[in-house]
Amino acid sequence: MYTAAITGTGVFTPSQVITNAELVEAFNAYADRINAENAEAIAAGDVEPLQHSSEEFIFKASGIEQRYVMDKTGVLNPDIMYPQLRQRDDGEPGILAEMALDAAQKALAQAGKTAEDVDLVICAASNLERAYPAVAIEIQDLLGIKGFAFDMNVACSSATFGIQTAADMIRSGSIRSALVVNPEICSGHLEWRDRDCHFIFGDVATATLLERIEDAKGDHFEVISTRCATEFSNNIRNNNGFLRRSRPDGVKDRRDMQFMQNGRKVFKEVLPMVSQHIAAHMADEGIQSDALKRLWLHQANKSMNDFIGKKALGRTPQPGEQPNILQDYANTSSAGSIIAFAKYSQDLAEGDLGLICSFGAGYSVGSVLLRRHHAS
Ligand code: COA
Repeated sequence: MYTAAITGTGVFTPSQVITNAELVEAFNAYADRINAENAEAIAAGDVEPLQHSSEEFIFKASGIEQRYVMDKTGVLNPDIMYPQLRQRDDGEPGILAEMALDAAQKALAQAGKTAEDVDLVICAASNLERAYPAVAIEIQDLLGIKGFAFDMNVACSSATFGIQTAADMIRSGSIRSALVVNPEICSGHLEWRDRDCHFIFGDVATATLLERIEDAKGDHFEVISTRCATEFSNNIRNNNGFLRRSRPDGVKDRRDMQFMQNGRKVFKEVLPMVSQHIAAHMADEGIQSDALKRLWLHQANKSMNDFIGKKALGRTPQPGEQPNILQDYANTSSAGSIIAFAKYSQDLAEGDLGLICSFGAGYSVGSVLLRRHHAS
């Protein structure tokens, strides 16, 4: 058995930002237009008017202040309300591959490695843009990596499930190294016309390079252990898929073809699941909660993270111990905990322990326990 280590991370951040103020202005203009179109039916009591969204609510309920997106023009146009992406020829890189490529190159550069050092690419993401060929194989080709590649989707937990998959292959000896990439174009599946959720998501891509620990050239994180768990729930769901046209009403503009969630239930049910998951993972490793120096959590909701942070660390986290990035990026699905890890991990001292934990649709929860090492 070999020991796996995370030797590099990379984050691709889109250049366009949507602030809460811009988002609310566009939504309210959309709501006013729909209400004007339905004025008679609303007056007759047959149709419920759309309520305005508010910046205060968004910040208070989620902690989100802005989000990055691949296209803000379509999203903020009250007559469109979704991103408008350029039609790409099959001969050019797809948008997910392009986003992931940037993050992957940064991860390789941080580790001081090249494509020749990589045996496997896993594209682990919630929102894969096509059924096949695998986006991961496209990324493998763009990077010039030999070996193999495949896609996997466990929604918001895709990154940690991908890390466990890669780490297990490294441990067993079937590969020496793997790039786990998480291109998340959440703006494509978010329903921007629904005030209950229009503020939740943003776009980003992250990449994590895993290698045998003896191959690490610079500072790195030893993967002590990983743990994944799932429990079926319909409380976060998207019914879009290739059977769409085969079903009556399938091709209509239906609400359930975009992200749907019962936010309150998710909040209540996922909190205990995650807290117990982290506690059990650490107990099995004989690690006391106060020994953890850093917690990189899934980035969906600030109150949720405050609660989990307190439970997992057994104390109110000191500033910086449980870093949040959701105020800047919003929820970026599987990439969120990896952004936090990439941005807030380099300062840890030799031997410090930290834990990445992601959670979300499925339900699913994945945790990765890490020990910091500096280059010898
Ligand atoms: N602006 C103003 N008011 C809004 C609003 C908006 N954009 N969106 C909803 N409201 C209203 C609701 O209609 C509701 O009004 P009511 O009390 O009159 O019915 C009220 O605000 C509270 O809405 P609710 O949806 O219950 O808010 P919440 O406090 O549960 O916060 C979430 C919503 C989504 C932020 C929260 O539930 C959450 O974060 N859940 C978990 C999310 C998560 O982790 N998802 C995983 C996805 S990967």
